[in-house]
Amino acid sequence: MAAIAIPVRKSSKEVHMSPSTPPALHERMNRRDSLASPAVRAPKVLHPVDNDDLRLLLLENISQEAVRAFQAQGFHVDHSAKAMSEDELVEKIPQYHAIGIRSKTKITERVIKAASKLLVIGCFCIGTNQVDLITAAKAGIPVFNSPFSNSRSVAELVISEVIALSRQYFQRAFEMREGLWNKQSKGCWEVRGKTLGIVGYGHIGAQLSVLSEALGMRVLFYDVVNIMPLGSARQVETLTALLNESDFVTLHVPELPETTNMIAAEQLAEMKKGAYLINNARGRVVDIPALIDALKSGHLAGAALDVYPAEPGANGAPFDDQLNSWASPLRAIPNVILTPHIGGSTEEAQRMIGEEVSSALTRYLNYGATIGSVNFPEVDLRAITAEQLGIRVCHVHNNIPGVLRQVNEVFSPYNVEKQYSESKGDIAYLMADIADVSPSDINKLRELISKTSANILTRLLA
Ligand SMILES: NC(=O)c1ccc[n+]([C@@H]2O[C@H](COP(=O)([O-])OP(=O)(O)OC[C@H]3O[C@@H](n4cnc5c(N)ncnc54)[C@H](O)[C@@H]3O)[C@@H](O)[C@H]2O)c1
Repeated sequence: MAAIAIPVRKSSKEVHMSPSTPPALHERMNRRDSLASPAVRAPKVLHPVDNDDLRLLLLENISQEAVRAFQAQGFHVDHSAKAMSEDELVEKIPQYHAIGIRSKTKITERVIKAASKLLVIGCFCIGTNQVDLITAAKAGIPVFNSPFSNSRSVAELVISEVIALSRQYFQRAFEMREGLWNKQSKGCWEVRGKTLGIVGYGHIGAQLSVLSEALGMRVLFYDVVNIMPLGSARQVETLTALLNESDFVTLHVPELPETTNMIAAEQLAEMKKGAYLINNARGRVVDIPALIDALKSGHLAGAALDVYPAEPGANGAPFDDQLNSWASPLRAIPNVILTPHIGGSTEEAQRMIGEEVSSALTRYLNYGATIGSVNFPEVDLRAITAEQLGIRVCHVHNNIPGVLRQVNEVFSPYNVEKQYSESKGDIAYLMADIADVSPSDINKLRELISKTSANILTRLLA
């Protein structure tokens, strides 16, 4: 279904100026202020018409900032430091309108079926595979996460790895811990003037580009799309060109079929002798047995890995050959830095995740906006201004032909100020601002829309 914006009738609040008597300048200026675009007028704070008392359940120690932000909106918040099992959730969730989780709580089909009031799910983390996204969408529940709040943290870790590899200082520090003094400068380099090759110039790659230039490095990048380089960075045409020229190659691509084993024996052979490889992206992007060969032969001078094809599910679990068959040989190679997927793990990133996801949930609950949702059509409408009367209709429905005709039939006695609809797979979402709906008409309007054949969920905000 295509997106539409239908101003059905002219707004009754439109102001007309008389052309016959031109007003004085200061008068025109004053009037221009009062005619300012709706975007600069104070937005009206909307609330759900039928359930003002929204209850939120926050699990897994979600930040206190998020708890306070929700409380400031007037929501009732229950929070816990722990995750909940499926059985616990099935028992508790029927009383909540929203839930916030991290990666340990699983929102399964059974949980969603028990969640009779649930309107929205917030994943206060990067990934969303702990949620049954399709079942949630079919139940009219958008899911939000925070995919980019840790970009800076990853970029800073990479900078530290570039220097650590170049100076072999992890190796030296490890030897000191073993009681061995081994001062040397052979094979240790400054990074100034060296070339950093960034594969994938997205959120993390671009941050890294800026930081590494500040260290005096030359930056090349390779990306499948043409991107405006930051600073003096230069985009190269092929991965081979980047591998041939770079002293450090760092990977920042998503996990996709075409990025699986993107760096294998052939690509490692294309890297300069004595170069370094850094992978903070996803474990399957590098063929690790091939990397082990390239390190053992001395073709590469070192590597830093933060991500692996298989990763333990919990802290304290072993990182061994049972998990990844090559773990022992990899761990034994000097100047290889292995970290447990900590690229994005900082206090700042956690705080930003808390802010971003809590504001996405609030925007959805109070205004109906789904921009940034991972499983839902993305729709938003310009804010209703404080002076405007009327209601906002948020209608989640099955994506089948004829729905808009039915809904617009219901809207036809009113003045539709704004309307926007978007679909994603089987689900479609329509938002409409309707002017001058009397309080007695609100229930009737909701009932009629809820009765349309494709209705999944209809909420009214005023
Ligand atoms: N180590 C960690 O803790 C950690 C934290 C955050 C993100 N990540 C991972 O880092 C990676 C990059 O994240 P991001 O936020 O910068 O992503 P992003 O989506 O902002 O950028 C990815 C870039 O890769 C490019 N790309 C896609 N396919 C490509 C290909 N075949 N060849 C070259 N370029 C390609 C895209 O065009 C895009 O510019 C992701 O895999 C993400 O999962 C890891």
